[in-house]
Amino acid sequence: MSFNTIYVLLMSVRMAPRLPLIVLLMIHGVSGADWGVSYSHSHICALKNSSVIMSCTYTYPTGYKIKKVFWTKGPVKGVEPPDLSEDPEYSQRLQYLGDKQQNCTIRLSHVTQKDAHMYYFRFITNVTDGVWLGKPGVTLTVTDLQVEAPERVTEGDSVRLTCKSSCALTDGATFIWYRNSQPLTERRDRNNQLLLQSVRREDAGRYSCALHGHTYISPAVQLSVTCEYRLTFPP
Ligand SMILES: *[C@@H]1O[C@H](CO)[C@@H](O)[C@H](O)[C@H]1NC(C)=O
Ligand SMILES: *[C@@H]1O[C@H](CO)[C@@H](O)[C@H](O)[C@H]1NC(C)=O
Ligand SMILES: *[C@@H]1O[C@H](CO)[C@@H](O)[C@H](O)[C@H]1NC(C)=O
Repeated sequence: MSFNTIYVLLMSVRMAPRLPLIVLLMIHGVSGADWGVSYSHSHICALKNSSVIMSCTYTYPTGYKIKKVFWTKGPVKGVEPPDLSEDPEYSQRLQYLGDKQQNCTIRLSHVTQKDAHMYYFRFITNVTDGVWLGKPGVTLTVTDLQVEAPERVTEGDSVRLTCKSSCALTDGATFIWYRNSQPLTERRDRNNQLLLQSVRREDAGRYSCALHGHTYISPAVQLSVTCEYRLTFPP
């Protein structure tokens, strides 16, 4: 406790009726207010095989020295949570971009469905009990992409194909469409949908979708186009 706090405490003794409240605030200020971890995003929806950055900053009282910083994943149980960078499933893909002062940002690359967990930052100082676990942490959800399309459409119909993800990707995400592995350059997409107006036989093929700037491509889905009038001709 600094001289300033003692002074405030003494002042408050003279203003006796308010004493209990002020003492409570002081105790909180001394023991907890300077400790903390804050994450820029508490939920992250990541596309399979992409890299995820978990932005993070941390604070602790002055006069402490940081001895160890690391990330761990939930559920956290037991005495000391394990350091993810020592986990063979993560060690090659995890990169600590932060420092030993205040930045605790990490990058996890090539995310898979198995990475969907809660992640926490932990730091340990040179003082006994001077340790902190940044709860609540960051929830990582991993999605793939699936094309939704009617199996069969008739020439002349309008058809809408949707590129579906299981969690909400960032608003800035740009979808790309492929037919038989060739990128479609027509600007016919809105959000995650491809609208084929007045379908022709040339539109038939295997459709897949992807996100601009990402390697992952959805499984392809066959779109068949039938020509109605041909059926009415005698053989
Ligand atoms: C912790 O480190 C700080 C800064 O180096 C130092 O002033 C302090 O005495 C250390 N505390 C303990 C308990 O070692
Ligand atoms: C933390 O470090 C990362 C990577 O170096 C950087 O991009 C980010 O701006 C830093 N954040 C803060 C708050 O300094
Ligand atoms: C995953 O990404 C890497 C590049 O970051 C790429 O070389 C690889 O082909 C991708 N794998 C899949 C299955 O998309």
